Amino acid sequence: MTICYSLADFQQALSLIPNNYKIGFVPTMGALHKGHISLVEKALTISDTVIVSIFVNPTQFNNPGDLAVYPRTVEEDCKKLREAGASLVFIPSVKDIYPGDDTRSISLGGLDLTGEGPRRPGHFKGVAQVVTLLFDIVKPTYALFGEKDFQQLSIIRFFTGELNYPIEIISCPTVRESDGLAMSSRNVLLNAKQREAAPHIYKTLKKAQEIASAQILPGSKEVITPVMLSRWVEEEINSHPLLKTEYAEVVNSLTLQLVQNWEDARDIQLCVAVNVDPVRLIDNIKLKQTL
Ligand code: PAF
Repeated sequence: MTICYSLADFQQALSLIPNNYKIGFVPTMGALHKGHISLVEKALTISDTVIVSIFVNPTQFNNPGDLAVYPRTVEEDCKKLREAGASLVFIPSVKDIYPGDDTRSISLGGLDLTGEGPRRPGHFKGVAQVVTLLFDIVKPTYALFGEKDFQQLSIIRFFTGELNYPIEIISCPTVRESDGLAMSSRNVLLNAKQREAAPHIYKTLKKAQEIASAQILPGSKEVITPVMLSRWVEEEINSHPLLKTEYAEVVNSLTLQLVQNWEDARDIQLCVAVNVDPVRLIDNIKLKQTL
């Protein structure tokens, strides 16, 4: 496995890959866990070579405190990537990625109007900025992303199509701890009590999925609407003293617009962000799928 710490070195290593090779690309911000490794493993099954980038992208952090505490574990990351079978790791500097002002404006197709969008102003603009710059450098055949970041995945799919990148976006299921907590680089920032509390998020999502299929409010015979379900989820998560829901939204899985009625969309997703102070966790679950 080759590790490149500069753009020049990476371009040199990239030039040695045969032209006919299918390149699988896994962009990451490091602090790798089994979720990332599952992306590498999937990439290995469809590509001739797998490239991973590790770059903590400053432009997608709307909160400087969050950027400062973001875990950085490059050595362990490289060990995990070598074991997983990645061929090339790109660890650029900020100057490599942003040599000057980036004045491009990338359309997010309105997919940033709910969920993380309004709560983290500029976040998806930063994601679009870095992912397109990485795509331009790596020129992969496939790029792989996890479904835990459901909104990010939708937005990346959108601008990849809109900008006509000849890259296939592959999504991979969320990898969970045995107690259901979605794997996230931020989980290491939870203290023991918070870590114990955090699985209550996914337990609530699973209950919400059951409620959505029955469409009946628990403890009553009342028919539950998507808005009522959002409120129920928020209250259920908040019933744990260490968890504070920032949002619980029931959205159309394609447009990410809020849905008022279960018939409003063929596919429906429940997305949540929960503060486990000072850590912020996100998760999501499918509530309705029409084949
Ligand atoms: O999901 C992430 O880790 C990041 O948002 C990404 C896609 C690597 C862009 O920095």
